[in-house]
Amino acid sequence: MKRELLFPTPIWKFEKCGVDVNKIHDFIKLVREEDPTGRIASNDGGWQSHDFTDAVMQTNPLIDIRNAIRERAYVAADDFGFRSYSLHITNLWININGKGHYNHLHAHPGSILSGVYYVKLPPCCQGALSFIRRYEEQMMKESWGNAHNFDPWEDHNLLDYDVYPEEDLMVLFPSWLQHTVAKNTGDGERISLSFNLVAHSDFYREIYPR
Ligand SMILES: [Fe+2]
Repeated sequence: MKRELLFPTPIWKFEKCGVDVNKIHDFIKLVREEDPTGRIASNDGGWQSHDFTDAVMQTNPLIDIRNAIRERAYVAADDFGFRSYSLHITNLWININGKGHYNHLHAHPGSILSGVYYVKLPPCCQGALSFIRRYEEQMMKESWGNAHNFDPWEDHNLLDYDVYPEEDLMVLFPSWLQHTVAKNTGDGERISLSFNLVAHSDFYREIYPR
């Protein structure tokens, strides 16, 4: 017997990106001072900034992380199988979640790749980033059994997959992959950057020049 796994979903983790997190952290503190209200999106509690565009990031201290994201996003997209394309960061925003704060289930519509970069974390209990399987793929378990009727360690039985935050870790994922962020129960703030990218085909650009 040979078992085939159909349509696996990739995510990409890049540890120790080598970005100066203190420089970014100083800038984040400044932004929060200037805009203490921020915005409310998927977060329950905490503070979220408005969006930074790619053009704006090239003029402020986010330029290093902007370049680090682009570099790794190309690695991920190449690995995904993209060919003859270019990537563009549409937006990036700051998340600061204090003790007890979390993010509801959501995805990032309108983009192709999304990601998170961890800037500063409490020493423990920061709350995992959980990717959640599509509901229709959870039906087998829900229709006749429960979690105890299935081997939970088989990849094809997983209902969710947790990524545990580390400072200077970047995680990239397909934008349609729904996820939650568990409650930060540590003493201190979990500070991260989230971002979206779109892809453009190089083929379309060649039509008129030719
Ligand atoms: Fe998200």
